[in-house]
Amino acid sequence: MGSNCVQRRLLLLALIISCAAAPQAAGAAKPIPNPDLTVEGGDHSRIIQNDIIRTINKHPNAGWTAAQNPYFANYTITQFNHILGVKSTPWSVLSDIPAKTYSRSLELPKEFDARSAWPHCSTIGTILDQGHCGSCWAFAAVESLQDRFCIHFDRNISLSVNDLLSCCGFMCGDGCDGGYPIMAWRYFVRNGVVTNECDPYFDQTGCQHPGCEPAYPTPVCEKKCKVKNQAWREKKHFSVNAYRVSSDPHDIMAEIYKNGPVEVAFTVYEDFAHYKSGVYKHITGGMMGGHAVKLIGWGTTDAGEDYWLLANQWNTGWGDDGYFKISRGKNECGIEEDVVAGMPSAKNMVRSYGGAFGTAAA
Ligand SMILES: *[C@@H]1O[C@H](CO)[C@@H](O)[C@H](O)[C@H]1NC(C)=O
Ligand SMILES: *[C@@H]1O[C@H](CO)[C@@H](O)[C@H](O)[C@H]1NC(C)=O
Repeated sequence: MGSNCVQRRLLLLALIISCAAAPQAAGAAKPIPNPDLTVEGGDHSRIIQNDIIRTINKHPNAGWTAAQNPYFANYTITQFNHILGVKSTPWSVLSDIPAKTYSRSLELPKEFDARSAWPHCSTIGTILDQGHCGSCWAFAAVESLQDRFCIHFDRNISLSVNDLLSCCGFMCGDGCDGGYPIMAWRYFVRNGVVTNECDPYFDQTGCQHPGCEPAYPTPVCEKKCKVKNQAWREKKHFSVNAYRVSSDPHDIMAEIYKNGPVEVAFTVYEDFAHYKSGVYKHITGGMMGGHAVKLIGWGTTDAGEDYWLLANQWNTGWGDDGYFKISRGKNECGIEEDVVAGMPSAKNMVRSYGGAFGTAAA
């Protein structure tokens, strides 16, 4: 094992405590910042710390480089903790969802990047920005689904994080205070999700959107398109199903290779805020929370290190132009443990776009 990220069960327990903002963190070695203490309390020291950067950059086997990411220049530890919005899904829910596996005989390339595999799908390589809102669970889901619409239906479609974030409600968790990735996909099956044009995440008028301090308000569900003459119901895009993928790297790779990007959740430590390039593995700093991102590929470095390739939604002023790599095959920080996705549905596609969508699975 060799990684200090693998004590996943303990971490999940800690995440539940942190996400539910329970008053005490049952004897945890390092106190977890309470995301609710945004104004009066909390840890106001900066998340970007020079001693972390030094530790990483002089570490002989880190495999990655740390830097002052401008995106987090003004973030405190408490604010950073708050944007890590993955709640751990109750086992009673997860155990009902079979994990998808693939035949061992399926041959996979040594290296894969969804951006070059489907170059006509511009959403795959678009880096978004979640703002000061714990909406990562919604971003990674919506982004993966929209990429899959392009891969399977040959359309660039931008879908609405705002619809999912504000309208899924209790079923998905707690909006900007975190949610459950698998429930996002169930929302796509049951309710569908409108286009981003119909219900955009950020608006033009200042503080009416996620990310306004000092509060972190979940947007109100309005079920109305911002664009005149667009009908909410007609803008809905659906998923056929919502499933987990087995944590075996072969199965995760096969799923991406055949169907497109997937949503993954993992544990974030302080050093991750400082990631600039290379293959991330946890080296130093305390646990901050659970985060969800979009997994788009894999490969092996010249030094022989296997990695996953992922798109974050912390804009391009973080990491490697918004992307990062993380060690593959060791369940680093739980990256192989919570993989979820679904297949895009043809429902509404004919009405919205015309053409021959009727033959695809509905
Ligand atoms: C950080 O705050 C300073 C001062 O308020 C501001 O000028 C700068 O644009 C901020 N940086 C970011 C990345 O938000
Ligand atoms: C998606 O948009 C890009 C850039 O605008 C374009 O080059 C590409 O052909 C589009 N793909 C599809 C499937 O329409």
